[in-house]
Amino acid sequence: MNFPRLSKDSTHQVSTCLNGKTRTGPAEPRMLLTDWLRHQLGATGTHVGCEHGVCGACTVQIDGVAQRACLTLAVQVDGRRVDTVEGIAGEDGQLNDLQSAFKRHHALQCGFCTAGILMSCSDWLQRVEARVPTETEVREMLSGHICRCTGYTPIVAAVLEVARARHQTRHAALAGERSHA
Ligand code: FES
Ligand code: FES
Repeated sequence: MNFPRLSKDSTHQVSTCLNGKTRTGPAEPRMLLTDWLRHQLGATGTHVGCEHGVCGACTVQIDGVAQRACLTLAVQVDGRRVDTVEGIAGEDGQLNDLQSAFKRHHALQCGFCTAGILMSCSDWLQRVEARVPTETEVREMLSGHICRCTGYTPIVAAVLEVARARHQTRHAALAGERSHA
């Protein structure tokens, strides 16, 4: 297969579905997704810490899967769906259940790590929805994130609370469906 030759200085128009809306912007082949989101699209909710895939601050969801934006090139998301922390709240700006739990449990201080943690948690919570995860599992999931100031205990408490609440809601909905069957 013949691929077009890319010059390091050439610019490409990258188009993505960002938080449900089509957004297009120029990117050099080497431009990181973090820089593209922040500097080309103005989506500054995604933070940049280590730029080495270690701290997790830059975590976004690509096609629904949590990934490091600092280890992704902008051109790799062309034609794909990208969700960032800006898209978590409802359209009316109402915090979602996870954000509300973080607020209730004081699970953030400076907030630098929070955007990435929320994106990882929301992906992970959907995947474990059928059961209530253990504290150990939550801590393992969070091990991909470095928080310098909050300490992890309130973050774990917030995630566990949401997992339990979502499980109960799902359980009640299933019970309701069975009683009408
Ligand atoms: S900035 Fe991407 S993992 Fe730290
Ligand atoms: S809240 Fe400050 S680094 Fe996590």
